[in-house]
Amino acid sequence: MLGRRAREGIRRDEPGAFLPASGAVAMTAIRGDGRRAIHLGTAWYPEHWPEDRWPIDVRLMAEAGMTVVRVGEFAWSSLQPEPERWDLDWLERAIALLAENGIATVVGTPTAAPPAWLVAAQPDVLAVDASGHRVQFGNRCHYCVNSPEFHAASTRLVQAMGRRFGANAGVIGWQLDNEYNRTCYCDRCRAGFQAYLADAYGSLDALNDAWSTRYWSQTYGSWDQIPIPREARADGSQPLPAFHNPGLLLDFRRFVTASYRRFQRLQLDALRPLVPATAWVTHNFMDWYDGYDHYEMTADLDIAAWDWYVGMGRHDHLTSGAAHDLIRGLKRRNFWLMETQPGSVNWRPINTVTDRGEARAMAWHAIGHGADAVLYWQWRSAPGGQEQYHGTIVDPSGRPRPIFEEIRRLGAELASAAGILAGSEPRANAAILNSYDSRWSIGWQPHHRDFDYVGLLRQYYRPLAARNVSVDVISADAPLDGYDLVIAPALIVMTERRAAALRRYVESGGHLVLTVRSAMKDDHNALLPARQPGPLATIAGVEVDEFFPLLDPVPVLADGGVFPPGTSGFARLWAERLQVIDPATEIMACYGPSNGWLDGHPAVTLRRWGDGRVYFVGACLDEALQDLVLARVAAEAGLRPVLETPPGVEAARRSGGPEGEAIVLINHDRERALVRLPVPSWDHLAGRAVDGSIELAPYGVALLTPRDRSADRDRGTR
Ligand code: GLA
Ligand code: ZN
Repeated sequence: MLGRRAREGIRRDEPGAFLPASGAVAMTAIRGDGRRAIHLGTAWYPEHWPEDRWPIDVRLMAEAGMTVVRVGEFAWSSLQPEPERWDLDWLERAIALLAENGIATVVGTPTAAPPAWLVAAQPDVLAVDASGHRVQFGNRCHYCVNSPEFHAASTRLVQAMGRRFGANAGVIGWQLDNEYNRTCYCDRCRAGFQAYLADAYGSLDALNDAWSTRYWSQTYGSWDQIPIPREARADGSQPLPAFHNPGLLLDFRRFVTASYRRFQRLQLDALRPLVPATAWVTHNFMDWYDGYDHYEMTADLDIAAWDWYVGMGRHDHLTSGAAHDLIRGLKRRNFWLMETQPGSVNWRPINTVTDRGEARAMAWHAIGHGADAVLYWQWRSAPGGQEQYHGTIVDPSGRPRPIFEEIRRLGAELASAAGILAGSEPRANAAILNSYDSRWSIGWQPHHRDFDYVGLLRQYYRPLAARNVSVDVISADAPLDGYDLVIAPALIVMTERRAAALRRYVESGGHLVLTVRSAMKDDHNALLPARQPGPLATIAGVEVDEFFPLLDPVPVLADGGVFPPGTSGFARLWAERLQVIDPATEIMACYGPSNGWLDGHPAVTLRRWGDGRVYFVGACLDEALQDLVLARVAAEAGLRPVLETPPGVEAARRSGGPEGEAIVLINHDRERALVRLPVPSWDHLAGRAVDGSIELAPYGVALLTPRDRSADRDRGTR
């Protein structure tokens, strides 16, 4: 077993972290290969199996090249079968067995599965749903995040686990809970919301003013009159129109965020004194889930992690790439893919299996976007439980499914790629801003049934990603230095701080894209007393004098100027009428004839500020025109593709590794593809030199670094 000293040889606070520092040789006992940069692993629930089966499973995991396994998540009733009866020994034995086989462990705290005895003793541990009903025991994530009894039981459990496993040399990290995803509407949460508001506003006058409560006589005379917005949105459902005051809705989401953050903090505070500084703590988030602000939630965690499921059909890398980049942007560093499907899921209308080779391509896609670990969920189908049909690596008979071979191949590749990817990370010169308050605000008042904040964000992401231009998706409040291009899709909540940061960014030469639904609301979700884009109108050189949700497409003419003559397209969903307020503003596109109001008015504009630029894209453009506009914007900002590839083939770059930059080339298609290479390269997966071009098989992957003669000599090529 490793001592604490050896473990402390691991650096934590650097990109691509959690690698052994040179000299930490002892870690190789756990990690198999001390230079391994990218973990491969799985979620394993040893409590489902007789212990004499474990060695077979762990041997198979090692055979697949797995270096990490997540355990413990959901195992509350096995770890603490009764309030005063603990059984942590089995998990300790499982961790030891994994370590003996060179596999590190991530321990999950099983708080997403409060056991029957706890619920029986304290029924109001159970959450209340949006329709006011207390949820039933028998599923998971059934807790009220603000229940003191639940907090106490969770803290006790996490402390017990921390005391037992915290110093275990096999444990490299912790995952708290599982996919926080419930909003509770119980009376206690309502009282908590009221207390949160009292703290945030200090006085009812301030709250009444911020929420404009004179409207419909909502003026509050005491804190306990304030409702919890039950009708606002049922969990997981589409946002409903705002039945409640927009300010109340926004503060409620902030309260939910604060509630989860407090619950997470309880676990962190319980755990941190018991684990070495080298062990990291994370949570497995769900990409675009918007029940709380993920930037707040990850502020207290060491790394971000997420669970990627495609579910039905084949994955679209331009969509999933944005999700990976979102998660990388949470902490602006590499992340863990804590769960992904080994073939299929069980919860879509049609649970298709990934094509042969597709899972491997998906893993490399995640790695190209900054994943430092890929873990499959789950290892083996449990005999009972709600997820009997979910994809696994080992089937109910205990034998590997066909996908095992694909995963084993990936394991071998990751082992050999270690020397190339160790410590590397994607670096982007373009950023797309993501803002939960803006997203919520628009979600409650979409004003057009089909207006979708994330959809719009992706419309800006896709043309860049399709050109292999790396993009960071970051918080609208993150620092912007170093970016050549910043896109702020539908940044409707415009605080003074945001406006000042964006102005400074442009003044220092940055290129900024503002879009429809920019800068209309303040920090309380109230209308700004200004025309859009409010405090940014001066730098944009335009203001919006009317907005139009569209039933039918509206022509947009972009001929002449920066676009080839005759260029045109159309606006759909949404169009804003722009008024030029500054003679220096250039018009890039205008509306054609439609409703009379828009006819001939600017749709897309540009205002230059020294080296800086502000584009205002006043319409949701059709795909082709959007592509043209973004190509132009990217070129102006000097953004370069990682590599030019045919459609369906992606090139992602990771920089800062032992050999400098490495390119992950992935064919996401079922057809072969040919990619031209600008420089002689070495494909580390095939172990061969490639010149001029490289042919990729369906779902083929290559890991390329530039080649020079000395490297050729070293490798004995030529
Ligand atoms: C989520 C959960 C897992 C499992 C998978 C199934 O991501 O975290 O426990 O239920 O879904 O797809
Ligand atoms: Zn509650």
